[in-house]
Amino acid sequence: MSFLSVAYVVLFYFAAAVFIFGLTYRITKYARTPAPLKIPTMPAPTTRTGVAMRLGREVVFFESLFKSTKWTWLFGWIFHFSLLLAFFRHLRYALTPDSFLWPLISLEVVQTFGKYAGYGMLIGLTGLLARRIFVDRVRYISSPSDYLHLILLLAIAGSGLLMTFVSHTDIVQLKAFVLGLFYFDPQPVPNSWFLLTHLTLVALLLIIFPISKLLHAPGLFFSPTRNQVDNSRDKRHVVPWAARLDSTHSD
Ligand code: HEM
Repeated sequence: MSFLSVAYVVLFYFAAAVFIFGLTYRITKYARTPAPLKIPTMPAPTTRTGVAMRLGREVVFFESLFKSTKWTWLFGWIFHFSLLLAFFRHLRYALTPDSFLWPLISLEVVQTFGKYAGYGMLIGLTGLLARRIFVDRVRYISSPSDYLHLILLLAIAGSGLLMTFVSHTDIVQLKAFVLGLFYFDPQPVPNSWFLLTHLTLVALLLIIFPISKLLHAPGLFFSPTRNQVDNSRDKRHVVPWAARLDSTHSD
């Protein structure tokens, strides 16, 4: 195998390790962080089913963002929905025809929507970037990292679109490379500039994920303002560490 292929194999194992261990560490930390007060954003559901439904609407429709700013909601939703479509199209690089998901991802409609989803990502990300640049109060609170995240995602979508519509890469060899990573049987990476750029940026995305604002994805589920039941008038709210204190200092 060429030096280039070895370098990309090592890069992807490194990026995957940082992503998996970093994310596990973060999620464990979120799950263990005490939530001493009842602080659901009102009006809030009074049952656990209600909370699950509210979280579901938040994940699928970005409900609270919709209530606060319509433009940010529109561009944010377009970007995330397009990302989901592109994800389904990408599954063909990592799955084989014997997978139970194959009938779904090989559907013409999934591949076609996934193909044009790249443009959706560009539209959504450009809108979000314009908001940071042109809306005074948003520009004031934006740090370089806020811009860099958007630029990184724009570059990933851009390099992907260049492969899809301008200069194709060897998809068969790429699939062998990806499956080789999964089966610990390294295979050569196709030598195409757009693909190598795409892959380098994706590896960078995986590496920064556990130390960046991209953590909002898992973080949403641990937010006390969203995941708490509004039952403070019916039930005493005691966090485990306070309950322990209670029993040791009962006098
Ligand atoms: C290791 C992971 C990845 C691999 C191997 C990969 C590979 C590819 C390839 C080969 C294409 C060209 C598709 C074609 O011509 O049919 C493509 C397109 C694209 N990629 Fe990726 N990609 C990866 C991760 C990502 C990620 C994480 C994103 C988004 C954050 C992304 C966004 C896109 C977009 C928007 C397109 C253009 C639309 C399309 O054809 O799907 N890719 N990718």
